[in-house]
Amino acid sequence: MNTLIITLLCLLPSLTLASEVGYPLDKAPVDVADQASLQRGAKYFVNYCMGCHSLQYERYNRMGRDLGLSDEQVRKNLMFNSDAKVGETMKIGMPPKDAKKWFGAAPPDLSVIARSRGSDYLYTYLRTFYLDPKRPWGVNNAAFPAVGMPHVLWELQGWQEPVYKAAGEGEGGGGGKEEINGFKVVKAGSMTPPEFDAAMADLVNFLTYVSEPMKLERQRIGVWVLAFLVLAFAVFYPLKKEYWKDVH
Ligand code: HEC
Repeated sequence: MNTLIITLLCLLPSLTLASEVGYPLDKAPVDVADQASLQRGAKYFVNYCMGCHSLQYERYNRMGRDLGLSDEQVRKNLMFNSDAKVGETMKIGMPPKDAKKWFGAAPPDLSVIARSRGSDYLYTYLRTFYLDPKRPWGVNNAAFPAVGMPHVLWELQGWQEPVYKAAGEGEGGGGGKEEINGFKVVKAGSMTPPEFDAAMADLVNFLTYVSEPMKLERQRIGVWVLAFLVLAFAVFYPLKKEYWKDVH
């Protein structure tokens, strides 16, 4: 009995892994030190995502500071809720209960999504919504099959259809399921595919920063610590020489 339990426990991680792989993830070109990219990403977020998703651990003014924006710039460009104050967290008005009714699943808070799901996953997820008439919103997603989220970026990306692997090409046959091999655009959006990829890189970069704002702070502090060590060496080394010069 114990062996059985242990065996099952050992299998557990591989089971969860198996359910998550499937569509191969694209590498997200993340660089949280790139402020211009973070600013563009923040703009996409407040315009296209904040209708449904909050960032309950991020304050507007904190974001402004990290992104190199004044409170006034934040208020003008990134805040649409006129009642909110810059010191408040980025909450939304949609009650989770209603959201669950409308979408079948409540849109999760995205404060730590980059840490829990990974930047590569987000980058792939946001770019792989495809037309599927069987789904309630008419779209499905390669990274998140049977997703409850509509394709909110269709104006930018346009609409795409999946291109499937030829039968027998995939390893193991995929249990009779067709495997997506890529996409073809059937209706163009306002952005070309490379422009859309760049926009999603900015958005993912922003979400990555949000999920770990301390990273920027650590890098900043790190620079000061190094500067201090160099300075300390410059002061103490001559001092040490001075003290010890008569001892030898
Ligand atoms: C119209 C409402 C709506 C908007 C706008 C919206 N989403 Fe969602 N989103 C949802 C819902 C609903 C879910 C839950 C889907 C599910 O669990 O099936 C979701 C889920 C997600 C998830 C979680 C995926 C996972 O693996 O758990 C991410 C990430 C996400 N959305 C990112 C975004 C981003 C980024 C934007 C802006 C470009 C955005 N969403 C805009 C409704 C929305």
